[in-house]
Amino acid sequence: MPAPARRALVTGVTGYVGSRLAPALLRRGWRVRVLTRHPDRVARRDWGGPLEVVAGDASRPDDLARACAGVDVAYYLLHSMDGRDGTASWPGTSPTPSPRRASAAWSTCPGCTRPTGR
Ligand SMILES: NC(=O)c1ccc[n+]([C@@H]2O[C@H](COP(=O)([O-])OP(=O)(O)OC[C@H]3O[C@@H](n4cnc5c(N)ncnc54)[C@H](OP(=O)(O)O)[C@@H]3O)[C@@H](O)[C@H]2O)c1
Repeated sequence: MPAPARRALVTGVTGYVGSRLAPALLRRGWRVRVLTRHPDRVARRDWGGPLEVVAGDASRPDDLARACAGVDVAYYLLHSMDGRDGTASWPGTSPTPSPRRASAAWSTCPGCTRPTGR
């Protein structure tokens, strides 16, 4: 019996890198979950059908926890959150989800055995 397909979380799926990575993973047999603030934009993609879409904001720990549950690998493809002074370009900075706080939420991503891309 074949092993069940692994599941990847791709953030930034409406962006330059994520919109290339997600279909590439699907072609390789991965189950792909995306966390996006704009599910409508994902639905318009011709490769979007098989995606598991979690509507949410990556700066919100609860949304991130929902997105990360049960994934084998997670790709962080948002803007940089690791500025030295903590004020790096975390998108949607007002009201401020501090980059460090968002980073901390990401690092505790439950069920994620191999966070990558950050
Ligand atoms: N592009 C390149 O050539 C390149 C090269 C090397 C490294 N990188 C790195 O790769 C990463 C992605 O770059 P990119 O060029 O693909 O970026 P991009 O095109 O600007 O896309 C950014 C993505 O982040 C999403 N996003 C932003 N804030 C979010 C939030 N709070 N919650 C959920 N999603 C959010 C955006 O979704 P919305 O639709 O919701 O706005 C969008 O999908 C960056 O870390 C960048 O430094 C990029």
